[in-house]
Amino acid sequence: MKDLIAALPKAELHLHIEGSLEPELLFSIAARNNIDIPYASVDELRQAYRFSNLQEFLDIYYQGMNVLRVEQDFYDLTTAYLDRCAVDNVRHVEIFFDPQGHTSRGVSFDTVIKGIVAALEDGEKTHGISWCLIMSFLRHLSEEDGFETLKQAEPWLDQITGVGLDSSESGHPPRKFARLFAQCRKLGLKLCMHAGEEGPPAYVHEAIFDIGVDRIDHGNRAMEDPDLIAAIIDRNLTLTVCPLSNTALKVIDKIEDSPVGNMLDKGISVTINSDDPAYFGGYMNANYLATTEGLGLSSEQVKQLAINSFSGSFLPKADKALHIASINHQD
Ligand code: ADE
Ligand code: ZN
Repeated sequence: MKDLIAALPKAELHLHIEGSLEPELLFSIAARNNIDIPYASVDELRQAYRFSNLQEFLDIYYQGMNVLRVEQDFYDLTTAYLDRCAVDNVRHVEIFFDPQGHTSRGVSFDTVIKGIVAALEDGEKTHGISWCLIMSFLRHLSEEDGFETLKQAEPWLDQITGVGLDSSESGHPPRKFARLFAQCRKLGLKLCMHAGEEGPPAYVHEAIFDIGVDRIDHGNRAMEDPDLIAAIIDRNLTLTVCPLSNTALKVIDKIEDSPVGNMLDKGISVTINSDDPAYFGGYMNANYLATTEGLGLSSEQVKQLAINSFSGSFLPKADKALHIASINHQD
């Protein structure tokens, strides 16, 4: 199974670029930017990566991204992630970035996006990995703050495929951002939202029926509501599930409880993704392998997951078909 997973071309649809900041890179960027970090060593920092819920992780995640200050930092971060993708045979990436996590610290929107886009363009040349960029709004902030961020993004809209909604889910329902997402839709952007990670099934319902999302990030708790399951299947919505993230953040007790198998059985377009691999202990193939072993998935099911990753992507139809054909040719 390990060989099949390694050989399959895959797309990653749920990855926060700031969550791919490995402790080693964090320390080296901190040193060159003269930033003190409250950990004595890479090992000590890694030891701090133990979480009992989403918020505990987010506190450390926002602290970690504080070392990112100049364009080169964002370039190096993104390049390191793409190099890792090449190892796992990830052929297409749809990357979230959190501009408000940077602009709130005085780093300009332009600095962030210039570094990320330059690395994505170079990564496409070096590794042949295609990409989409998804600008994610922080849901613990106001809708007004989101509108301000959208204004800053305006000169860059030709580089941005879609928008997302992340950060602390509980108490920040999708409808809090209904006007912002309606405006993004008018601008031709794809709409994604984290929903049903920790938040209730009602948030997934809102994301589908009030916002009209194109894709749901996580969506685990949709499985508690048969009507929601029916709506997801009916609309052929893709769910971007993140198994190692789910265990690290105690969304599930153990990998054997991952909803991926159940979703596959029901015919949902479910995908496997790494979310914040530097914090949760594994990139794409590690997520595929842990899930496959934990749930006892068949090779046909593993292939289906890889197919879903392309069919659920924002790639043009013809590109999707090429990737899917190459999966179907694998034994
Ligand atoms: N930001 C980065 N990773 C996240 C996650 N898993 N949930 C919500 N916000 C996030
Ligand atoms: Zn996420």
